[in-house]
Amino acid sequence: MTKIVPVVHFEHVSKQYITDGAPVPALQDVCLAFGRGEFVALAGRSGCGKSTLLNLAGAMDFPTSGTVTLDGVVTSSLGDAGLTKLRREKVGFVFQSFQLLPTLSVVENVELPLLLAGRTGARSAALERLGRVEMDSYAARLPYQLSGGQMQRVGIARALVHNPSILLADEPTGNLDSGTGDVILALLREIASREGTTILMATHSAEAAAITDRLVRMRDGQVEEIRELCQP
Ligand SMILES: Nc1ncnc2c1ncn2[C@@H]1O[C@H](COP(=O)(O)OP(=O)(O)O)[C@@H](O)[C@H]1O
Ligand SMILES: [Mg+2]
Repeated sequence: MTKIVPVVHFEHVSKQYITDGAPVPALQDVCLAFGRGEFVALAGRSGCGKSTLLNLAGAMDFPTSGTVTLDGVVTSSLGDAGLTKLRREKVGFVFQSFQLLPTLSVVENVELPLLLAGRTGARSAALERLGRVEMDSYAARLPYQLSGGQMQRVGIARALVHNPSILLADEPTGNLDSGTGDVILALLREIASREGTTILMATHSAEAAAITDRLVRMRDGQVEEIRELCQP
């Protein structure tokens, strides 16, 4: 029998930060597995550990105990060079505040991850990705010339330009009005379903959770509830 390997696997993951010499528990004994093409909402109050969980999933930080496995690799087993490679190849990040570089055009923002990774064909890959989020006709614009929803489309194109296994989105609709937010959520839904990208999304929005495959509700660093949601 073939064993199904999750794209991201948290095994008994705890994370403590040290602030002013005192430990701050951010995650406690979290066990979760995320499959290919799964779209998962992480919900819960501010401070419950959503961003910490995303950062650990993306190998931006490590657990204090337990293991995070990303595409079969235990993140804490890698040195700096291996980590940089893992992040560049496997992970895409979408931010609440978009984080586009203001002096670069739309297409320059999107091709940047490929240029940093030394890949060829960056311009054409970036234009192709922008086309998939219906932003190719804005390629030459600067970020300030875009609406919030358009900036987030560009943010999504940049996060996906290198075809990562996992897309991590930290409150991606938090700076958008609800109508625009819904369009962005529908776009993420389509990416997970069509392209098989695993998407973990921290969110406060109830509508956001409704279009995902699974809702993970967190409380005080622990998984409080997991709800499987039916997709039509
Ligand atoms: N870099 C950090 N240093 C110290 N404490 C942190 C750091 N990041 C987060 N925390 C703490 O860890 C807990 C979880 O935070 P976070 O993951 O940001 O929650 P959420 O994203 O759900 O709001 C909170 O108590 C927060 O104050
Ligand atoms: Mg957060």
